[in-house]
Amino acid sequence: RASSGGRLDLELSAAVTTATVGDRQVRVLGFEGGMPGPTLRVRAGDRISLRYRNDLGATTNLHTHGLEVSPERNSDNVFVMIPAGGTFDYAYELGDDHPTGVFWYHPHHHGTTAEQLFAGLYGAIVVEEPEPLPVARERVLVIADIAFDANGDVAAATRVERMLGREGDLVLVNGQLLPTMVAAPGARERWRIVNACTSRYLRLRLDGQRMHLLGIDAGRFPEPREVDEIVLLPGNRADVLVEATAGEAVLQTLPFDRGSMGMMGAPRSATTGADLARFVVSGDAAASVAPLPAASAAPRDLRDEEVTGRRTLTLAMGAMGGGMGQGMGFTIDGRTFAEGRTDIEQPAGTIEEWTIENTSTMDHPFHLHVWPMQLVEVDGKPVTGVDRRDVVPVPAGGRVVVRIAFEGITGRTVYHCHILDHEDLGMMGAIRVA
Ligand code: C2O
Ligand code: CU
Ligand code: CU
Repeated sequence: RASSGGRLDLELSAAVTTATVGDRQVRVLGFEGGMPGPTLRVRAGDRISLRYRNDLGATTNLHTHGLEVSPERNSDNVFVMIPAGGTFDYAYELGDDHPTGVFWYHPHHHGTTAEQLFAGLYGAIVVEEPEPLPVARERVLVIADIAFDANGDVAAATRVERMLGREGDLVLVNGQLLPTMVAAPGARERWRIVNACTSRYLRLRLDGQRMHLLGIDAGRFPEPREVDEIVLLPGNRADVLVEATAGEAVLQTLPFDRGSMGMMGAPRSATTGADLARFVVSGDAAASVAPLPAASAAPRDLRDEEVTGRRTLTLAMGAMGGGMGQGMGFTIDGRTFAEGRTDIEQPAGTIEEWTIENTSTMDHPFHLHVWPMQLVEVDGKPVTGVDRRDVVPVPAGGRVVVRIAFEGITGRTVYHCHILDHEDLGMMGAIRVA
């Protein structure tokens, strides 16, 4: 545990490991022998050294999703490649004003990102507040889906599954199938929920309990919002207060339709619902805890500020070389990712308004590294309140308008669809802020 402005020395090794899922012994990929990997707890102002050891037998690297740190050199650099058997010394510096919240880490090796994440390589990062919130208990719930073949190995995705975005039939919470969480009546709990699924959209409910959303992705809303349902796109996180009410509840995810490949008779993503965890509230009433302190000062609203420029990005899918048999192209502005090409040269210190439109028949969750996006409009509907995220919804045939302050950090990194199969198929671009 670091105090503010501390130095942290961490090690992270990635390797094939065995796990028990339900009543099966299976082989997955894990960090430090586990799935998920350890939760990294850090603070604003920290300097973190992380020695990464790659025992996967394949090339990989590490991305700290959502952290506002340099994307260059040996920091959060997705262009770093760590060969099988190699080690790499990462170093991250969090600014003194880095937002608090839950973030996460996962591989980002273009071409195998989806496969490596799906097999179990993911973990949470918590950037703690200077003073922890008064709660009876904090839980980090990392949700990820997975599927196994008859041998107990992680199932490989077919070409069609990659085009739709692979989803597993098992939706795990912290690597477990339907775990039970126990609380006392009246207990106030803080749940930090990560959608670490490769492609699956989560629509979370906890019927019979009261949930207040404190924030999405980084930071806190000025006021907690009472919610019945929380939609998390792949990569999104929720910071949630649960006021435990006596009884038994189930954390579930509901079905979601992400669209289809568009051709006649083409397969459709039909994300099924699942029960994720049991929440059993019984016994003596919990001791009361202090009221929640207000979130600090009114957040900056980029809608009140002068925009320096506007840009439109177009997400598209199209048949390549004669129909589905040949596969689909997943493009941004008509092209697939090319490592050596920089698609956007963005001057530092600008405030930009981006319209991201989706001409395809499938939803795409759009992610930009390093600089968070403030939602202005989703599918023509203005967004109320200040809502900053690092993954935003771009519905099939629809569009999203966001504002981005390219301030504080410079460097070259990427933006992409966070259905990671789509990213691997090319729906990614490179941006340099300088
Ligand atoms: Cu969570 Cu570029 O990734
Ligand atoms: Cu990211
Ligand atoms: Cu996509």
